[in-house]
Amino acid sequence: MKEQKFEFTFEIYDSIDELSETDQRLLSEARNVTKTAYAPYSNFFVGAAAKLSNGEIVIGSNQENASFPVGICAERVLLGAASSLYPGTAIETMAISYESKIVKSDHPISPCGMCRQALQEVEGRMQKPIRLILSGMQGKVFIIQSVSQLLPLAFTSQELA
Ligand code: THU
Repeated sequence: MKEQKFEFTFEIYDSIDELSETDQRLLSEARNVTKTAYAPYSNFFVGAAAKLSNGEIVIGSNQENASFPVGICAERVLLGAASSLYPGTAIETMAISYESKIVKSDHPISPCGMCRQALQEVEGRMQKPIRLILSGMQGKVFIIQSVSQLLPLAFTSQELA
C-alpha cells in the first residue's frame, strides 16, 4: 500500500488594495459584472472577468432559468464567450466575485465542481495555467496559481484516447 498526498499553496491578501494594478483592474471588472447576472431565483449574482493571452478581457455572469438546472454559472458563461470570440486563445487570469441580496459578500467564493471540470479542460487544451483571483465585493482576496490545483485526480480527455 502507498499513500499519496495532494497539497497546494495559495495567496491570501487582506484587500484588493494589496494587488498589482492589473489584478485590481480585473477584480474590479468581475465585481462590476455581477450587475449583469440574471439570478432572480438564488439572488446570488456572480461576475467573472478574464484576461486572455492576446490582452483581451472577456466577461461572464450567471444566467439562471425557471427550470433550475438550465442555469449556467458565470465561469462557464465566460469560457463559452472566450472560446467563441477568440478561439484557441489561452486564459491567463480569471477574477471571480459575487453580490447577494441575502448573504454578505465579504469573503472569497471558489468555483463549483462543474466549473472546475470545465476550467481544467481549457487549461489542458491551451497548455497554460489559468490563475484565479477570488473575492467578494470587499474583504480578503485569494490567488490560486492554477485551476488544476482545485481538481486533483481530474477526469481528462486523455482517458478517452
Ligand atoms: N454560481 C456561479 O455562477 N459561480 C460559482 O462559482 C458558484 C455559483 C451561480 C450558480 C447559481 O446561479 C447561483 O450562483 C447560486 O448557486
